[in-house]
Order: sequence, then structure tokens, then C-alpha cells
Amino acid sequence: MKDDATIWISGTMHNIFSVGQILTELGFKILNIITWEKINPPPNFSCRYFTYSTEQIIWARKSEKVPHYFNYELMKQLNGNKQMKDVWKLPAIAPWEKSCGKHPTQKPLSVLTRLILASTKPNAWILDPFAGSSTTGIAANLANRRYLGIDQEEEFLTISKNRKLEIENHDIASTYRKKISGFNTKNELDLFLLEEPKVEYGNELNFN
Ligand SMILES: C[S@@+](CC[C@H](N)C(=O)[O-])C[C@H]1O[C@@H](n2cnc3c(N)ncnc32)[C@H](O)[C@@H]1O
Repeated sequence: MKDDATIWISGTMHNIFSVGQILTELGFKILNIITWEKINPPPNFSCRYFTYSTEQIIWARKSEKVPHYFNYELMKQLNGNKQMKDVWKLPAIAPWEKSCGKHPTQKPLSVLTRLILASTKPNAWILDPFAGSSTTGIAANLANRRYLGIDQEEEFLTISKNRKLEIENHDIASTYRKKISGFNTKNELDLFLLEEPKVEYGNELNFN
């Protein structure tokens, strides 16, 4: 990670406390713990607990001292011009997001898109070392960011490659941008991406 980079780690109550502790031991500064509240959670069939309807996502920066990037204004805009809260009400994954095959714990594009837009600039490199079906990468590419994904399962890499090929079709990419939840209008993501300032990293050229 670059010194000013941030990391997002999603978990549940079963592991999120250990992850938080390890991050702190490694010198990371925890910035927020986002609670993703699924507006349509699956039912709890045992009927012995409250329905699990949330996931936690830790946002941390690498260094205590080096400042991080946060697109405060966009987040505010997406929340009716009020500060974006750390509780995100977004739907669970929709069937159209599984067009290239099923991953058992695939995340919705809406969650990944929001965290990418909040914490990265255009053309940034985003690494997901536990890529699964590469929802991170699809959200990154749809938002004009670059992506490197790693997964130990060949089957999931195949789904990832097919999802990448799918969005190389301009019409499909455009349709998906409009379908991603969390925006006030269907073309808000497109309009935002058009306006985003172009950024160059180091000696690399930006071809956007
Ligand atoms: C929770 S899933 C990620 C799902 C992904 N966010 C998505 O939307 O599809 C975690 C992934 O990490 C992979 N994984 C677990 N341990 C790994 C390891 N040591 N090296 C590489 N991949 C690993 C699993 O195969 C699994 O696909």
C-alpha cells in the first residue's frame, strides 16, 4: 500500500473484532466502521435469533500521520446534501449481478462503488487480495479506476474474467452504472464520473 492509502475490510460479528485489533497492532488508524444495513435481508430460519441484517466494514489508513483522501462532498450529495452517515442502507445483491456465475459471498456493486468513490481518485490502483467474483474490480472499472485481484480458487477467477469481459461492452457497462443502487437518480453516477478531475499518478499517463 502507498503511505496515503486506505484499506477496507468487511466482516461480521464473528471476525470483525479480531480484524480491528490486528489492524491497530499493525499501526493502522481506524477511520470508520461502516455498518451496511441490508434493506432486504434473508430471513432467519431458526427463529432463535434476531435476523442478521448488517455487515461491518472497517475503513482504516496505513499511517497514523499521513492524511488520507475522502470525497466528503460527493458522499454528502448522495445523502440529500447532509453528511453521509456510517450506516449505509443498501440492498442485498440483486440477480442481475450474478449474470456470470455465482459466488457464495458475492457483495453488491452498490456497496463497493460507494466505498471506492469515497476513498479513491480516478485512475487509482485498487487491490483486492480476496477477490472472489471481483465485485471490487467491476465497481472499480465502472468508476474508471484500475484493479488487481487475487483469489486461490480458479472457479472464481473465471467468474471474475467473465464479468470483466461483460463490462467491456459499452452498453452493458452503461446499463450497470444506472442499475447500481445508492444514487438519487439513474444517471447520477455517470454525471459524477464525467465531472471527476483527471489525476496522474507518478510518471504514469492517464488515458481516461
Ligand atoms: C468473501 S470472498 C470475497 C467475495 C467478493 N467480495 C465478491 O464480491 O465476490 C473471499 C474470497 O477469498 C478467497 N480466499 C480465501 N483465502 C485466500 C487466500 N489465502 N488466498 C487467496 N484467496 C483466498 C476465497 O476463495 C474467496 O473467494
